[in-house]
This record gives sequence, structure tokens and C-alpha cells, in this order.
Amino acid sequence: MSCFNCCLSKEKVAKKSLKKSIHEYCNAMTITSFANISIKSDGSRRRYIVEEIQKLGNGKVSAEILTFKDLSAATQNFNPDTLLGEGGFGRVYKGKLDSRDQAVAVKQLDRNGLQGNREFLVEVLLLSTLRHQHLVNLVGYCCDGDQRLLVYEYMPNGSLEDHLLELKAGRKPLDWRTRMKIALGAAKGLEYLHEKADPPVIYRDFKASNILLDDDFNPKLSDFGLAKLGPTGDKTHVSTRVMGTYGYCAPEYALTGQLTTKSDVYSYGVVFLEIITGRRVIDNNRPTEEQNLVTWAQPLFKDRRQFTLMTDPALEGNFPRKGLYQALAVAAMCLQEEATARPLISDVVTALGFLAQDKPNCEGVEEDGSYEDYAEGEENEEKR
Ligand SMILES: Nc1ncnc2c1ncn2[C@@H]1O[C@H](COP(=O)(O)OP(=O)(O)OP(=O)(O)O)[C@@H](O)[C@H]1O
Ligand SMILES: [Mg+2]
Repeated sequence: MSCFNCCLSKEKVAKKSLKKSIHEYCNAMTITSFANISIKSDGSRRRYIVEEIQKLGNGKVSAEILTFKDLSAATQNFNPDTLLGEGGFGRVYKGKLDSRDQAVAVKQLDRNGLQGNREFLVEVLLLSTLRHQHLVNLVGYCCDGDQRLLVYEYMPNGSLEDHLLELKAGRKPLDWRTRMKIALGAAKGLEYLHEKADPPVIYRDFKASNILLDDDFNPKLSDFGLAKLGPTGDKTHVSTRVMGTYGYCAPEYALTGQLTTKSDVYSYGVVFLEIITGRRVIDNNRPTEEQNLVTWAQPLFKDRRQFTLMTDPALEGNFPRKGLYQALAVAAMCLQEEATARPLISDVVTALGFLAQDKPNCEGVEEDGSYEDYAEGEENEEKR
């Protein structure tokens, strides 16, 4: 037992040090100090936080410190009617804080999860330091006793998954242009993490359920608990325990634990393919050869005559043929086995900038000659 534990009650230590450490980290105005934390047990968590408190000075985060009472009131005692969804780390409720005239989403982390404390700290610290229009805003947090809660801005249209892969009765499917706008915004969020944040941040959990949508279907990335700092100096990758969601993980990361920003680019390719096809990356309800979206798509990427067959039937054919060709080309590039062959996310942003442009009559029309002409031309090219 550490000396620290002898002097103060366990709960007080955990609570005090957690609150303090969040402030102190952020005061140091560096994300280097906390984004690689690894907390394996309660004891090491306490030790780690205590060490960090000694190291860093006093600071401020924009996120409000809230009590469990505040959040019980905000969610009518976590009324099941206010439940927005449930993920691997806990339940998410819709609420309203007395202190502000704003709807919020309250995520109550599962108290039994060992990983919960690390997720909690990384999420608070990263979201307090990084700010971008395509990252969800953290309004506040609570760490009363063993309760860990995160309070985000409420995103009225829920997640991309709700509109693409789990469409409820009465909801309209997303049209092509909205899909491209979401893909572009999400890529801009990743671009900020990879190329503007210093040092770069690898998001590690890019998937449809983590892309939240506002009133106007502008996307924002959420769930930073798994984020990692990218390699610095001469290093080409960081080595880490494999985490994330099956199907979205890049092959080299899943096999060796070697993580780079290109691992996120692969996950981006998976989500972009879901956006185009309306198919879930892993779907056990489909015939065996179609259960893994990427494996199903690989041979089709090489045969332009199959491209229209890859689109989401919910689009009912309403998409620009050339736009579809370009979108599939971007997805295929992001999904390359060889990480170094994948594009930078900023290249994806540039390509999608064109695809998401408002063109009044791009629905269902052939641009610059017909797609069929193009496919035929390619075919002749192959024969020659
Ligand atoms: N800020 C928010 N505004 C509105 N709805 C939200 C918000 N955050 C989360 N949700 C809803 O709650 C659901 C659960 O989110 P959560 O992040 O806990 O799990 P997940 O992303 O589905 O899965 P995982 O735990 O694997 O990341 C989301 O799919 C979304 O519908
Ligand atoms: Mg999530």
C-alpha cells in the first residue's frame, strides 16, 4: 500500500486527485503528457494521478465540473425515457442542465469497467484541449465517488449509424449529397487530429456510431477515450495494445499493434464504404461471401460495371455516376493493405471537397459523358 493511501481515505484520494489532475494537465497546455496514459489497475491509476499532480501546476479546462446530483436532476434520475443509446462503456441519456439553457447528452460510464478510468481521463483531457467544428464539444464531467460521467453537447440527429445502418421506421434515408457532406466533415475532423494537432492524435475508433450529427447533418467526432498520440521524431509508428472495433481496424494494426495515422485512414475507408453501400462492415445476416464488407468490395472495386450494384438500394439510383466512381476510388485507396500506400486524410478532404459540392442537378445524371461510356472505354482499353 502506498504512503499516500495511509493518510487519506481511498475515495477522497481518487476524487480529489482526478479532479485536480484534469485541471493541471490542461494548464500545462500540452497533450503529450496525458494522451498515452495507460491505467491498468486502481492502484496504478492513483499512483499515476498523484505523480502527475506533483509534476504539473494549476490549470483550467472549459468543461464544467458537475455533481452527480446536477446530472440526476438533468436526466430526471436517469429516467429510461431519456435514454439515447448504450455503448460498450455505458448508457447515454438526454438531459438539461439547470445552469444553462442547452440540451446535453450525459454518458454514464460503466462502473465495473477497468478501462473506464483511462477512457474517462483521456476523453476529458483531449476534448478540453482540442477544439474543432467537427469534434463534439465536452460541456462538463463528473467524478463523484466512483461515478464517472461525461456531458456533451446534444446532437439532435444522433449518430450516422442511426441514419445509415439502423434506420428506424419513418426515417428518411440519407440522400447522396448529405452522405458526401457527412463524409467530408468527418474527414476534416480527422485532418485536424492528424495534421493540425501537435503532436498528432490518432483517433483509433473511427466508426459510424462515433460520428454524431447536428440539426443540419453536420458531423462531429465523439468518443476520444481510445485516442493515442501519434509518433514523433524519427519514429514511424507507436506500438500499442490492439483496441478499437472489429472490422474497422487496419490489418497491420490488428496484426502487430503498430499504430499510425494511416490506421485511421483505413477505418475512414471502411466508414466511407458503409456510407456508399448502406452495408454494415460486419453483417452476419448476409450470405457468407457478403458478411465482411471490405472482402466483398475488393473484387468489385476492379470491375467498373459492378459499381452501381455496390450503392445503397435506399438511394434508389439517385447519385451522380461520376461522383460514385470517384467516391469508390477514394474508398479503395483508403482500404489498401499497405499502410504507406493509403492517402493522407488531407488528400481525402481535397477529393471529397469536390464530391460534396452543391451541384443543383447532380442527382441521377451523367456528368461529362455517361458512366456507361466511361466503363466501356475502360473495357476497350483493357482489351487493347
Ligand atoms: N452527444 C450526443 N448527442 C446525442 N446522442 C448521442 C450523443 N452521444 C451519444 N449519443 C447516442 O448514444 C449512443 C451510444 O453512444 P456510445 O458512444 O456510448 O456508444 P457507441 O458509439 O454506440 O458504441 P461504443 O461504446 O462501441 O463506442 C450513440 O450511438 C448515439 O445514438
Ligand atoms: Mg460512441
